[in-house]
Amino acid sequence: MFEHLKAYGGDPIFRLGEAFHADPRERKVNLTVGLYYDEQGRLPLLDVARRAEDQWAAKGLPRGYLPIEGLASYREAVQKLVFGADSKALAEGRVATIQTLGGTGALKVGGDFLHDAYPHSEMWISDPAWDNHHAIFQGAGIPTHTYRYYDAATRGLDFAGLMQDIAALPERSIVLLHPCCHNPTGADLSDEQWLELIPVLQQRKLIPFLDMAYQGFGRGLDEDAFAVRAMADAGMTFLVANSFSKNFSYYSERCGGLSVVCQSAEEAGRVLGQLKAVARRIYSNPPSHGGQAVATVLADPALFAEWKAEVEAMRQRIAQMRQLVHERLKEIAPQYDSSYFVKQRGMFCYTGLSLPQLEALRRDYGVYIIDSGRISVPGLNTSNVDYFAQSLAAVVAQETAQA
Ligand code: LMR
Repeated sequence: MFEHLKAYGGDPIFRLGEAFHADPRERKVNLTVGLYYDEQGRLPLLDVARRAEDQWAAKGLPRGYLPIEGLASYREAVQKLVFGADSKALAEGRVATIQTLGGTGALKVGGDFLHDAYPHSEMWISDPAWDNHHAIFQGAGIPTHTYRYYDAATRGLDFAGLMQDIAALPERSIVLLHPCCHNPTGADLSDEQWLELIPVLQQRKLIPFLDMAYQGFGRGLDEDAFAVRAMADAGMTFLVANSFSKNFSYYSERCGGLSVVCQSAEEAGRVLGQLKAVARRIYSNPPSHGGQAVATVLADPALFAEWKAEVEAMRQRIAQMRQLVHERLKEIAPQYDSSYFVKQRGMFCYTGLSLPQLEALRRDYGVYIIDSGRISVPGLNTSNVDYFAQSLAAVVAQETAQA
């Protein structure tokens, strides 16, 4: 019955993580999947999360269904974190939020919802993109295209290209944007650039869909939400996906949120109903375990302060690793411009390394980087950062010598 099916080639991001784990060499470095590892190379379980889980487990509650839209306390916590406790849109009841299965689940629910609401709309995604963006929205029936985003010459943002492409889109096109920590390039719009882009999105009557999977890893929890809050303040209608996978280290708990900012509380009520209808036909109701813990931590001022400090420590460790690689490369490969390590921000660094260089890094040094050349920076720590810099310098020098 399934003889005609092709073999799955594997996910470009997860496949390489699996190859890393299968590599028997002792000296190896995993810079593949976007996971935050601590200085000891361990995936942390945050202390606040463990305590909130224990509190909930001690209650011994039965496991009835959650509402389709998720836990009320979780949804409220998501709203305050994403839009700010003093948000006017929240005070006016104009935001419809549902609990989703991670950030990916939020993108899928949002994609299905938009395809129902605007069946002829197409979507524009940054070039390059997170590998899964095109697949998720195409899977929701939305044709996808790209807008210019990255300038290989500067290893930074091509803001002029982005503005030109977005200004030329047909009305009611959907535009996927990353408010912070762009995946894969680490190149973000500045606050001023967001303020230039917002009127263009409004004038062209475009539908912005913001994917904020790394809130807190760029400049800080509030600073990273600048674009979201500026769009809400500008009175726009738009969607925001957020995730606790990274900033709560809750990857397998699948804790995300989808919020739609509307023009009135009445519209938000109808939108929430449609989001529920979409969730019901995909997975029916979200799971409760992780969501309970997130809601507990975010609603308690003392636990929230502890969590905020944890996120800040993660953010600073990532920035420190970027700095260390840059400094080391300046010493050992002065002809190689590694300033992009410190100019880009957040979880990912886009190296521009060629496929042969990436293959040499894997084969000769056990340094695993996905084929786009994107590094997940928290895979680095003070024990492996020198080795990484030396390996990178060696493959870059080899290519220069061959040329
Ligand atoms: C990544 O980009 O590596 C992470 O967001 C994990 C994923 O789901 O791809």
